[in-house]
Amino acid sequence: MKRIEYTEELQRQCADWKAKGLKIGLVPTMGYFHDGHLALMDHARSQCDKLVVTLFVNPTQFGPNEDLDAYPHDLERDSQLAWDHGADLLFAPKPDAMYAPDHATWVEVPELAQNLCGASRPIHFRGVCTVVMKLFMLVQPHVAVFGQKDWQQQAILKRMVRDLNIPVEIQGHPIVREQDGLALSSRNAYLTQEERAHAPFIRKALLAAREQAQQGETNAEAIKKSIRQSLERDIPMGEAEYIEMVDPDNIRPVTAVTNPALIAVAVRLGKARLIDNILIKVD
Ligand code: PAJ
Repeated sequence: MKRIEYTEELQRQCADWKAKGLKIGLVPTMGYFHDGHLALMDHARSQCDKLVVTLFVNPTQFGPNEDLDAYPHDLERDSQLAWDHGADLLFAPKPDAMYAPDHATWVEVPELAQNLCGASRPIHFRGVCTVVMKLFMLVQPHVAVFGQKDWQQQAILKRMVRDLNIPVEIQGHPIVREQDGLALSSRNAYLTQEERAHAPFIRKALLAAREQAQQGETNAEAIKKSIRQSLERDIPMGEAEYIEMVDPDNIRPVTAVTNPALIAVAVRLGKARLIDNILIKVD
């Protein structure tokens, strides 16, 4: 595996592979790998000739009071893991290699970025779309894999690709979880032992909501209220930032269970902001 820092080298290597007719898979990340990232790599690896993993803590998707400076990192460990999971190339640029000082071009999908995480992180998805677009232009992958933990991100990127006719297939990968149900996240590293012990109740509240819907409750407000009550009871030190039921494709709020509907939550727990979601289908 090659580890590279500069865009020119990335572009040259990928163009070379494409000229040889090889199929390229891309997994964009911000590093500090866990089994969720590694599952995305395995999934891409299984369908492509060459796997490109990118590791870049993208400054433009962090708001002024967010955790850009504190974001966990371990490049040597990540390089070894990417290598173990079949990466042919790990692109780990410094911020100046990705953004010129007078960078002025942005890609955004505002309609899908209004609620859920977009409501409290107003510039977040603009930063995500812009950096992912740049990675698509540099790598020109056939397939790019994203996790369903960040459902809204994946929905926005799918829309960007469709609207701008970008020749890449976006594939979503199911959420990878700890044994106790907590969705894996690099930010779980921020949790204290006590917070970590309470965090799995997020998943439990979502499973109970799905059960409630399958038992016949279709009203979004009633389901959201049950989730709020469960979270207040089981994670008293946490604070729900949002609990929403939305259409999984356009991320618009729904008032009753659509088929399917997505329930998404964000909970602030100590220094961490944890997100999770569940797709609900009813017969
Ligand atoms: P990051 O948070 O590092 O996540 C990289 C990829 O891993 C994303 O597609 C994310 O959805 C996926 N992922 C994270 N946790 C997961 C889990 N528990 N199960 C399955 N997949 C999981 O998301 C980003 O980085 C950035 O916004 C990025 C797309 C790289 C743009 O900067």
